[in-house]
Amino acid sequence: MANVVVVGSQWGDEGKGKIVDWLSEQADVVVRFQGGHNAGHTLVIDGVSYKLSLLPSGVVRGKLSVIGNGVVVDPHALVAEMERLSAQGIDVTPDTLKIADNATLILSLHRELDALRESAASGTKIGTTKRGIGPAYEDKVGRRAIRVMDLANLKTLPAKIDRLLAHHNALRKGLGEPEVDPKALYDELASVADRVLPFMDTVWALLDKKRREGSRILFEGAQGALLDNDHGTYPFVTSSNTIAGQASTGSGLGPGAIDHVLGITKAYTTRVGEGPFPTEQINEIGEFLGTRGHEFGVVTGRKRRCGWFDAVLVRQTVSVSGINGIALTKLDVLDGLDEIKICVAYELDGERIEHLPASQGAQMRVKPIYETLPGWKESTQGARSWADLPAQAVKYVRHVEELIGAPVTLLSTSPERDDTILVQNPFQD
Ligand code: IMP
Repeated sequence: MANVVVVGSQWGDEGKGKIVDWLSEQADVVVRFQGGHNAGHTLVIDGVSYKLSLLPSGVVRGKLSVIGNGVVVDPHALVAEMERLSAQGIDVTPDTLKIADNATLILSLHRELDALRESAASGTKIGTTKRGIGPAYEDKVGRRAIRVMDLANLKTLPAKIDRLLAHHNALRKGLGEPEVDPKALYDELASVADRVLPFMDTVWALLDKKRREGSRILFEGAQGALLDNDHGTYPFVTSSNTIAGQASTGSGLGPGAIDHVLGITKAYTTRVGEGPFPTEQINEIGEFLGTRGHEFGVVTGRKRRCGWFDAVLVRQTVSVSGINGIALTKLDVLDGLDEIKICVAYELDGERIEHLPASQGAQMRVKPIYETLPGWKESTQGARSWADLPAQAVKYVRHVEELIGAPVTLLSTSPERDDTILVQNPFQD
């Protein structure tokens, strides 16, 4: 029985929602292992659209869904998302959702700090989702976070709040912000405890048991490899590790349990927020891709930056994430273009290089070296077999495979789940 990790291979928004939904139907357990409600996954099932941010996609299919220890959980966002789903007829119960007792909580003070930093006149603006993700992870690493299990022991909570506020109130003073009252924070946490605790579980043990029973486990990544805190375009990244290795650390299931890594890859490139983007097209091509591809953020509604496919970046993420195959999405957005460019290498200070350097300055300076391929006039939308695709589109896909060093396992040709060309089922690795 294969267990599959799904990760984004670019800067997020690669169209993971549809693929994860298709796979979650075949899975027994669906696990989130990093990030929080900064993610935005849209699932379209029988024409109905479900927008998920924090909950694993499995909840929509009634599968056992798990929020692992690597996730940062905003209890208010959790409750609000469950209520939104309930209004759509999907009930999330303690039988279908388990939240790791050792997951870190996002508190209001994290959200405020995220927003304060982003709106400050000085300092590096990252363009975050302002959900408090970064500040919550900082507290986790700083060993002062409040975790899910702390809600179960309200007696020991005041001491934990004091430790946390010793840090935050000093910081807030420096920023000219009012201090947080420990009692107010205690009340905030006590008020959500009853809503969260029924879902709490020892997730690593649950997953170990499921694996031994032969369950199929799907690990659902959020964001993309280039937003990874170590391997992405630092500091313009998110605060978690987004690559496939995190599936293990962020859930407590050892890496030997992972059989297949599927990298979701868009046929062109987009990014939200600040930071380097070598193939960005601030011109009519970028507008064309953005309009055709409906490139607006699910979480923040922000317009996404758009550009040509960057094979250098995806080749790199195939390597760091250990991607076995890719699901190529949104090929139809390229329909009708006379010619299509693919970045195959960079020029840095007069030299040709084959990877994205780690330095921020060099990342800003690299210039893409393109190959130009002829486009196609026919529509690829809704294609369900290779024979439905124009010859030039097949050539484009084959060239992408060659350049990134990974095969196309799945090709998605519209948001509808059946509009998919399946080469290999990742669960049958
Ligand atoms: P944060 O995760 O809110 O701290 O934001 C850090 C960076 O990651 C910003 O550039 C965000 O736009 C980006 N980001 C976070 N979540 C997503 C996502 O789900 N899709 C695309 N970009 C994201």
